[in-house]
Amino acid sequence: MSLISTKEMLIKAQEEGYAVPAFNIHNLETIQVVLDAARDLKSPVILAATPSTVKYADENYLLAIIEKASEINNIPLTFHLDHHENIEDIKRIIKLGCKSVMIDASKYEFRKNVEIVKDIVDYAHKYGATVEAELGKLGGVEDDLKVDEKDSFLTDPNEAVEFVKATGVDSLAVAIGTAHGLYKSEPKLDFDRLEKIRSMVDIPLVLHGASGVPYDAVQNAIEKGICKVNIATELKIPFSNAIKEYFNENPNASYPRLSYGGNDNNYRASTYWLRDGSYLRLKTLEVGYTLPKSIVNKIRFNKIRVFFIGTNILTFAKFKEWDPEMGSSNGEKYPLAKTFTLGLTVNI
Ligand code: 13P
Repeated sequence: MSLISTKEMLIKAQEEGYAVPAFNIHNLETIQVVLDAARDLKSPVILAATPSTVKYADENYLLAIIEKASEINNIPLTFHLDHHENIEDIKRIIKLGCKSVMIDASKYEFRKNVEIVKDIVDYAHKYGATVEAELGKLGGVEDDLKVDEKDSFLTDPNEAVEFVKATGVDSLAVAIGTAHGLYKSEPKLDFDRLEKIRSMVDIPLVLHGASGVPYDAVQNAIEKGICKVNIATELKIPFSNAIKEYFNENPNASYPRLSYGGNDNNYRASTYWLRDGSYLRLKTLEVGYTLPKSIVNKIRFNKIRVFFIGTNILTFAKFKEWDPEMGSSNGEKYPLAKTFTLGLTVNI
């Protein structure tokens, strides 16, 4: 087994002030597309699987695919169990070679959460695996996990200190105002709380529920100490929509291969999150034509003028001096992107 633990990855991120993205994968196609984007952008990446993904795809297949992927992709990558609650399942999968797990016992009261997490930590560390746990409780929907907003609560900094000490856990998922799934209104993150936790706890901190969180808020959270950012919804929705659209538009299609129907949208979504190597930023949905780099290189972007009206619609006009090799006029670099899209960018 050549899968690596996430501990070194996250400590490096913590020391250097960036965050490693953890994308929730579901099948071969979602693994491929995240890896394509991560490899192109030379970013470390964590492939995360919830219990229903593991049940669907089978841990033996997942481990084998990701182990092979880590051999052929020259980037730090690993496989992580996300929001697992079943102790026996976690231990069994660690034994099979998984080096990174989240035990989510956040639904229990503090003492019971500590007890369960400590049991997994003791076990996982014997196998060189990293353990993440959650303190506080995020609202929203992730997999079969549904938490009503009224039952969610934020992480208490003093409890966080006690929790980390008592469990020996390697990284801590903090509840600071994000939620899983789609937001009804813009989330407001409690940065003071995050700063306080960061100043009192020295292990890497994890932000769950990053889909739909404004770009600046994600950046601010990273600046204030988040080292791992979890994204699921913003990849799974474009992927599912692309499949639906493809089969609707091609009713006679009969090959269930998703390289066209799903990967392209997901690739673009993944690259948004991975720009600059290691952190995340999808806040938009693109509608337009995707062109290969060979064609884009021949286009003079400073000749393109596109105007749209509306407060939540941006345009590529801001990229009018964009040189695909050098990055855009506002200094952002996308030198490794394979394809570029011309069209609308709609805030979602
Ligand atoms: P989102 O679906 O909101 O991106 O949350 C992902 C997550 O936190 C997975 O653990």
